[in-house]
Amino acid sequence: MSFQEGSVGVEDLVLLEPLEEGSLLKNLKLRYENKEIYTYIGNVVISVNPYQQLPIYGPEFIAKYRDYTFYELKPHIYALANVAYQSLRDRDRDQCILITGESGAGKTEASKLVMSYVAAVCGRGEQVNSVKEQLLQSNPVLEAFGNAKTIRNDNSSRFGKYMDIEFDFKGSPLGGVITNYLLEKSRVVKQLKGERNFHIFYQLLAGADAQLLKALKLKQGTSGYTYLNRDVSRVDGMDDASNFRAVQSAMTVIGFSKDEIQQVLEVTSLVLKLGNIELKDEFQANGIPASGICDRKDIQEIGEMVGLNSEELERALCSRTRETAKEKVVTVLNVIQAQYARDALAKNIYSRLFDWIVNRINESIKVGTGEKKKVMGVLDIYGFEILEDNSFEQFVINYCNEKLQQVFIELTLKEEQEEYKREGIPWTKVDYFDNGIICNLIEHNQRGILAMLDEECLRPGVVSDSTFLAKLNQLFSKHSHYESKVTQNAQHHYDHSMGLSCFRICHYAGKVTYNVNSFIDKNNDLLFRDLSQVMWKAQQPLLRSLFPEGNPKESSLKRPPTAGAQFKSSVAVLMKNLYSKNPNYIRCIKPNEQKQRNQFSSELVAVQARYLGLLENVRVRRAGYAYRQGYKAFLGRYRLLSRSTWPSWNGGDREGVEKVLESLIVSSEELAFGKTKIFIRSPKTLFYLEEQRRLRLQQLATLIQKTYRGWRCRTHYQLMRKSQILISAWFRGNKQKKHYGKIKASTLRIQAFVRGWKARKNYRKYFRSGAALTLANFIYRSMAQKFLLYLKNNLPSTKVLDTSWPAAPYRCFKTANQELQQLFHQWKCKRFRDQLSPRQVQVLREKLCASELFKGRKASYPQSVPIPFRGDYIGLQGNPKLQKLKGREEGPVLVAETVKKVNRGNGKTSARILLLTTGHVILTDTKKSQAQTVIGLESVAGVSVTSFQDGLFSLHLSEMSSVGSKGDILLVSDHVVELLAKMYQAVLDATQRQLSVTVTEKFSVRFKDSSVAVKVIQGPQGGENNKLICKKKGSHSLEVTVP
Ligand SMILES: Nc1ncnc2c1ncn2[C@@H]1O[C@H](COP(=O)(O)OP(=O)(O)O)[C@@H](O)[C@H]1O
Ligand SMILES: [Mg+2]
Repeated sequence: MSFQEGSVGVEDLVLLEPLEEGSLLKNLKLRYENKEIYTYIGNVVISVNPYQQLPIYGPEFIAKYRDYTFYELKPHIYALANVAYQSLRDRDRDQCILITGESGAGKTEASKLVMSYVAAVCGRGEQVNSVKEQLLQSNPVLEAFGNAKTIRNDNSSRFGKYMDIEFDFKGSPLGGVITNYLLEKSRVVKQLKGERNFHIFYQLLAGADAQLLKALKLKQGTSGYTYLNRDVSRVDGMDDASNFRAVQSAMTVIGFSKDEIQQVLEVTSLVLKLGNIELKDEFQANGIPASGICDRKDIQEIGEMVGLNSEELERALCSRTRETAKEKVVTVLNVIQAQYARDALAKNIYSRLFDWIVNRINESIKVGTGEKKKVMGVLDIYGFEILEDNSFEQFVINYCNEKLQQVFIELTLKEEQEEYKREGIPWTKVDYFDNGIICNLIEHNQRGILAMLDEECLRPGVVSDSTFLAKLNQLFSKHSHYESKVTQNAQHHYDHSMGLSCFRICHYAGKVTYNVNSFIDKNNDLLFRDLSQVMWKAQQPLLRSLFPEGNPKESSLKRPPTAGAQFKSSVAVLMKNLYSKNPNYIRCIKPNEQKQRNQFSSELVAVQARYLGLLENVRVRRAGYAYRQGYKAFLGRYRLLSRSTWPSWNGGDREGVEKVLESLIVSSEELAFGKTKIFIRSPKTLFYLEEQRRLRLQQLATLIQKTYRGWRCRTHYQLMRKSQILISAWFRGNKQKKHYGKIKASTLRIQAFVRGWKARKNYRKYFRSGAALTLANFIYRSMAQKFLLYLKNNLPSTKVLDTSWPAAPYRCFKTANQELQQLFHQWKCKRFRDQLSPRQVQVLREKLCASELFKGRKASYPQSVPIPFRGDYIGLQGNPKLQKLKGREEGPVLVAETVKKVNRGNGKTSARILLLTTGHVILTDTKKSQAQTVIGLESVAGVSVTSFQDGLFSLHLSEMSSVGSKGDILLVSDHVVELLAKMYQAVLDATQRQLSVTVTEKFSVRFKDSSVAVKVIQGPQGGENNKLICKKKGSHSLEVTVP
């Protein structure tokens, strides 16, 4: 029952419409083809073997089914396992999971799925994990020894298994108990074509290494062993060798010691070797056929391996000792009997070994008795079997299934009715088939078939299978579920399918015909005492312990219980166990005989559906109420659907449920209110409720999300705000702190400087650093002193022209020394000047003037320097005649000399006396006593001289003056430097005007109204008496050659 959209067919057959076999098969087929292998009938899971790995298992799915209720997801074994486990854990109800179905329908796989689910969801922890591991690892060990390849199933369990898993109050596994039923031991000695012996034989031969094989005295490969079906030694997709290693490690995990594993393997190998013992006819003298062993090698090897006396074993195989109260009689066995004995021994050893292994596992996983336990039982037992030829085994198996059907009927159908009764709900009776009558037919203590069989086995006298059948015929001639040739004949009913040695039982699932052949033998299940005694004598402790009855001290003449009786009592125990628990059903169906995926044989499934009573199951479900739940739980689940019960409800549970259902539109026919539970008739109503709940949950989820998101945003915002305030506070604080720190540091630094400065000031005198300066100053000063003293004592002469001066002793004094030298020189000059008379000063001034005018310009200047300016070269002082020339002029005569005047017209020279006074230049002919030409100094405009040695010069007169009108005057003087220097002075003194003195080789001389260009050239050196020669060149040009 799922609320998911897109479900294939109907997920719960309770909803099937129309309800008949055809539609049921169609629905299963449709679902199977769409890989939906699970379908519900209420809480029963139908599982159709997919013969392929579907992606619907594993941790992811386990987690999913763990979180949802039974109805919320697709049908699955996990859902059933979850319900069972939760009910066990939370409601303290012991559970059993009954897995039924044909061989190959998937029971064992289903039981493993249940176990793996429970292992995954139950508690964790080291202890718990090791318990889980042991429980899970018991599977490969039991499968190796108890499973075989059959035609129907490659891994068919050849024994029934019921496993109680025990949990503590928290639901963590503590351990378990495994009960095994009816190992198909005949398989040890014989298999049908296409089938194999038990897996362990093949695993051992394929997986054991050479060393182990040697220890077990085995050869590799199956071909050497009579008991192994040599046609089919391999199964596709099954790796015997690696499985062998897995079995070994599983045994270790469970707690088998190395020694125990070795012994188990030895016994296994012993069985194989027994099969290889060949027997032959031997004739005795008395003619009675006897038997013997062909090749003693195997029997000797067996003896060596387990510590047996091989002769005793041989004797035990080939003869039999009968013991009565009085005597012991030994009879020999013929070959057939001996072979029978050998095979019986092999079967017995193997089945006892298997029982021992189960017990050994139980020892490891058992729980201390003190603890209070919750129990989950898982039953994986062969389903109803109808073969061509059904024998004792099928009979007991079908009996077991009949009992299981009874449990199902009782627990499901009866319980259903009873519940209605308990709850006070009217019940329309559903007819169902109660198989109690068949169970009775088989198991009745006095008149049941099993009781009859036991009776025959124990009865003295000639007993055979046919006497047994006759007894049945007699007893059950009127029984509606019993048939045989005899009863048919009595009713004149002819049926060719019924053999003479057969009887037929109408099981709930169909009629099965059993052949009574070997019923007695199989029920007796006798092993000759000789054999068990030999086995008991073995040195190997395991083998020895398998045959306790071989101990002569314990041997009693009392018969052991028959196989039928044993089985009956173990079924009774099982039933009691199941009745005490809450049942959960998994019904397995095999879709085809070919073990093929995607093949669905409707005929085959129809038969199984009938065996399993599926339709009946649905019918009961539909007649009643499909769903029921305690008020409390129901209210808990659906209370959110009504405003009056959500969010809080204070009233009683029942009233609450009424309120909820009132608020929804549910027709009253659909509901029934029991005493403690609410009943809902059709799943549709439940779907409706669930759908409403889903919608409501969505609403509520949205509300929660909304509130949560709001809350989250708010707290997030508040947090951010708080953080922001904190950060900015810290930031500001930090900034201020830094700022303050800076100010403080600066203040401290300034303070330090000031203090330091003050302190240094006070203490400077004490400082050594000042010493250096002082010292340096001192040294410097003393050096300077020394130098100055030296200067003082070694001053150079005070002559003005002496420029010598001592060099500075140190470079640092160099500038000062130069200054001093200059100072000294200036001082000398000043002293020199101070001692000069005014006359000398005048002379020097004139000399200075001459120097300024001609130094470097005129060649005759240097010669004039050392010669003092006499001024009077004609003896004017003593010559009044000459003095007269001066006229009335006041001042002194500056220069008086004889000069030559150049005639401008022809270039000829004539002597003249020249007087220079403070105001005039006076020219007079030497022969005349009257001044001829008087030129006022203000009229002298300028003078031109040559740069040569000569004394030629031209007086340029201003044109305005009266004398000037005659033109310029060309003169030649021997003291031209002195004359012109004095004239310059005089002009300056008289007119405050600087006379222009031009030094040139070409000048023009004004002459009346025209001018003459004078060109002076230097004559050859030392030529023509050093005379000045003037040559007139044309009217306007005069060439003067000077020395
Ligand atoms: N749920 C499943 N998924 C896949 N394969 C399965 C499933 N159930 C059964 N099988 C296949 O069917 C075979 C027979 O199943 P098994 O449980 O041994 O049958 P049973 O115990 O009823 O005889 C398995 O070996 C496996 O290959
Ligand atoms: Mg199985």
